[in-house]
Amino acid sequence: MGINLRRMEIHPEDDMVKEHKKKLSLKKITQANRSAWNEVHPVHQKKWQKDFRKLFRDAKYTTLDDIESARLKKIGLKGKKVGQLCCNNGRELISLMKLGAREGVGFDISDEVIREARELAFISGRNCKFIRTDVYDIGKEHYGQFDLVYLTSGALTWLPDLKKFFLLIAKMLKKNGSLMIYELHPFVNMLACEYEEGFQDPLKIAYSYFKKEAWIDNRGIDYIGKSVYQSRTNISFSQTISSIMNSIIQSGIRITEFNEYPHDISGLFTKTVTDMQVPLSYILVGQKK
Ligand SMILES: C[S@@+](CC[C@H](N)C(=O)[O-])C[C@H]1O[C@@H](n2cnc3c(N)ncnc32)[C@H](O)[C@@H]1O
Repeated sequence: MGINLRRMEIHPEDDMVKEHKKKLSLKKITQANRSAWNEVHPVHQKKWQKDFRKLFRDAKYTTLDDIESARLKKIGLKGKKVGQLCCNNGRELISLMKLGAREGVGFDISDEVIREARELAFISGRNCKFIRTDVYDIGKEHYGQFDLVYLTSGALTWLPDLKKFFLLIAKMLKKNGSLMIYELHPFVNMLACEYEEGFQDPLKIAYSYFKKEAWIDNRGIDYIGKSVYQSRTNISFSQTISSIMNSIIQSGIRITEFNEYPHDISGLFTKTVTDMQVPLSYILVGQKK
């Protein structure tokens, strides 16, 4: 009763204003992150200790690990069109193309990573296109186009609105198209990282699993070289397994598989953590109904 009364009090304009404000704050977050990712990419390029420009000349070179490759092979990529959201420098999408996909499209907000991705696609000779865009701005021309949408390691944490994000993926998929996520397990959001101030015990629960406030940080995003520097502001989020799953379920994508693993796909955690066999990564597979 109370809820109905409150609904009646809302003028249609109020909803529009609210929606506009929501858009503004979402945009502010993603724009800040574009700037932070543009800043860090040259740092990553120096720290990687891998020259992808040379490595991708080898037709067999891949950055995919065995678990990921096996799962992608089970989905079956022959002749398929694959989209990767938050694709960074394209190394994973280009590697995936070697499993038989016909066409790949990578989307990322950072100008710097997209520049490198296009160069690597050219060097490898794979049929991949890379688009510099905020995922929330992906247009209708990409709807109903993909047999597989793929997300990996450290993509979801940057996204302020998971419901909107998975609804978009559902729109991008063809009927019966697949979603595959290979991500850091939300359990890791409770742990402090080695390079954080005051870090002592890598397995101490330092943060709430249910942290609602965003992480607003000016210490950089150098998870490759693990350097800390005074950086442009980056904004990320702790997401729970339930918030991820509910957003997928509500998008109309049916979850068909969910597996948790104790191995680290980020390179962020110490041997003490990996030896403890705690959940550090997961694979989720879904299908558009
Ligand atoms: C940790 S990387 C994950 C990608 C890949 N698995 C990797 O390890 O390089 C996160 C990527 O998400 C991109 N990103 C962050 N927010 C985004 C947004 N709103 N739209 C598109 N890309 C975004 C960043 O530019 C960055 O390249």
